[in-house]
Amino acid sequence: MHRPLIAANWKMNKTIGETEDFIHSFLAMIKDVDDVDILIAPPFTSLSVASSLLENTTVRLAGQNVFYEEKGAFTGEISPSMLLSAGCSHVIIGHSERRQYFSETDEIVNKKIKIARKNGLEVILCIGESLQEREEGKTFDVLSRQLTGSLKDVPLEGLTIAYEPIWAIGTGKTATPEQANEAHAYIRQWLRDYGEGSERVRILYGGSVTPENIKSLMAEPEVNGALVGGASLKPDSFARIINGAREATV
Ligand code: 13P
Repeated sequence: MHRPLIAANWKMNKTIGETEDFIHSFLAMIKDVDDVDILIAPPFTSLSVASSLLENTTVRLAGQNVFYEEKGAFTGEISPSMLLSAGCSHVIIGHSERRQYFSETDEIVNKKIKIARKNGLEVILCIGESLQEREEGKTFDVLSRQLTGSLKDVPLEGLTIAYEPIWAIGTGKTATPEQANEAHAYIRQWLRDYGEGSERVRILYGGSVTPENIKSLMAEPEVNGALVGGASLKPDSFARIINGAREATV
């Protein structure tokens, strides 16, 4: 049984002040939680203040992206050591919004994962199919292609996979627990076939997760946690998701 991981992806939301307000309220709401791993991925500008406020708590921080070089003339990019120095233990790589708006390919994702792992950052790799791909029955092909390209020459240690069907992101249209479980089971088997350490990899579901649907998702055997966008922006809603995950897994 995997210890659940509930992660917040704030995307391009929250100023520094809004981050401070969130963390003050949120910490009071989750002070008794010791059976779920909690991670927040704020925008880069909020990392430092979030890191100070989260000191001496179990809440960890993630970057939402990283560049695949150590340093240099790459205007606007962020390196692994910058994320580490800002207090991150993790980084999200390959989110569908990065693939869609910033033309990230599996090859780029692969380079990012390698440099992140080399620097000791844990990686949350996002994969998932579009609506058209699902309707054409290509879901498993897409997952396999993304896993093969993204994980080329990458050991599984320090890795989490987030299954995020694109059609469920920000749409209010959640995958059914059965659909999520089926995709996760496929990913789990792919990882087993791929190599050592596959059982330690947690597979998160992402896409319109809410306090209302978290329990039924987490009740599925292959769902080890969630990557939450919109519903992680309010402390109360994110705390309710964490509590729902706890209740579903006791
Ligand atoms: P929503 O929860 O807003 O659908 O976003 C999911 C997501 O993309 C998390 O990375």
